[in-house]
Amino acid sequence: MTRQDDMLRTAKEVQLGNYAPAPFVLTHGLGRRVTDASGREYLDLSGGISVLSVGHSHPTLAAAIGEQAARLMHVSNIFYNDRAIELAEAICTRTPFDRVYFCNSGSEANESLLKLARRYHHDQGDEKRVEFVSTLNSFHGRTMGALSLTGQTKYHKGMEPLVQGVSFIDFNDLAALDAAVTDRTAAVIFEPVQAEGGIIVATEEFVHGARRICDERGALLFFDEIQTGYGRTGRFLAQEWFDAVPDACSLAKGIGGGFPLGAMAVTERLADGLPPGSHASTFGGNPLACAAGLAVLHIIDEEGLIENARTLGAYLAGRLTELDARLSSTAGTRGLGLLQGLVLADDVDPGATIAAVHAAGLLLTLAGGHVIRISPSLNVTQAELDEGLAILDAILADAPRKP
Ligand SMILES: Cc1ncc(COP(=O)(O)O)c(C=O)c1O
Repeated sequence: MTRQDDMLRTAKEVQLGNYAPAPFVLTHGLGRRVTDASGREYLDLSGGISVLSVGHSHPTLAAAIGEQAARLMHVSNIFYNDRAIELAEAICTRTPFDRVYFCNSGSEANESLLKLARRYHHDQGDEKRVEFVSTLNSFHGRTMGALSLTGQTKYHKGMEPLVQGVSFIDFNDLAALDAAVTDRTAAVIFEPVQAEGGIIVATEEFVHGARRICDERGALLFFDEIQTGYGRTGRFLAQEWFDAVPDACSLAKGIGGGFPLGAMAVTERLADGLPPGSHASTFGGNPLACAAGLAVLHIIDEEGLIENARTLGAYLAGRLTELDARLSSTAGTRGLGLLQGLVLADDVDPGATIAAVHAAGLLLTLAGGHVIRISPSLNVTQAELDEGLAILDAILADAPRKP
């Protein structure tokens, strides 16, 4: 039995079975390359599901984490720390937001939005505003509140009762949104690009209409930019493509470049929405995570990664369109910047296809069950994209069909 086989056997014995990982154990990574316990190298164009904004173990990020670990790793939120102040300021400088709250994950950021909305309206004397409007096919996380906002029943199975007061409308259906927002609505939340749902981009009409409806009816508008933020779509935040500003947005995934970090960024209107004692997170905003966040921003600027995401995102979209036109195993492409999806045809077996991609040495993930998601590091090169697309092309030319 090889060392890797041994580790896979142990994993099944000691790890909870809530994941179904590919059958290899990753041990090292640099840039877009990762190595498994048998020494096999893979090209990673999954970007850790939109997390690895600057690639695996970027030397500047690794050094910043090491230096900060040696200087100050954690203080409680009873005390200020320099790194959290610097990172909050950097985020406010780059976005229309005026205050930042730090946490550790996307779900936690969305929980914070839920609590912020309820507490804000409560403190405004509008105590009946406790409900939320979300979109079908959305993904907002797995904790109870975030799960309750998630518009996919498969994730709800066996987990009810969920947080009450959430209704769902079809994504991009402005008439449905118009009908759903009432004087009981605390907030409307959606992703500018539904990512886990299969890479579906919001329409301008929907985004602008949502802003107008929320303003007219006194509801808050929230964007979940956990997967789309921090340059992923070729703008610092995806909302810039729509020229729309929500009252608050959630961030996570790419903002720590692989270090656990989440955030909720709010406009001045909500600056006092969570008064002292109303919300907290032990690790939220700790100096180590915030040093990672600062290093990620530094690398994004130094290496021109937003521009790279825009340019190579357009290149990737073009290459995928070409592939799609040629192959019978695909049924369209969609995306924004370096968050792209290639839709598999109905008769193609998505699980077997992605397993074949992994076996060929390329790391990609599925979104929405039948869409191959390509969300590489923002510092991916054209040569790496070409290399990955050649592997994908060869597999899709003879894609495994459904039994
Ligand atoms: C848009 C969106 N929101 C929220 C989450 C949940 O984030 P986390 O897994 O860090 O809790 C995800 C994760 O995939 C996501 O894509």
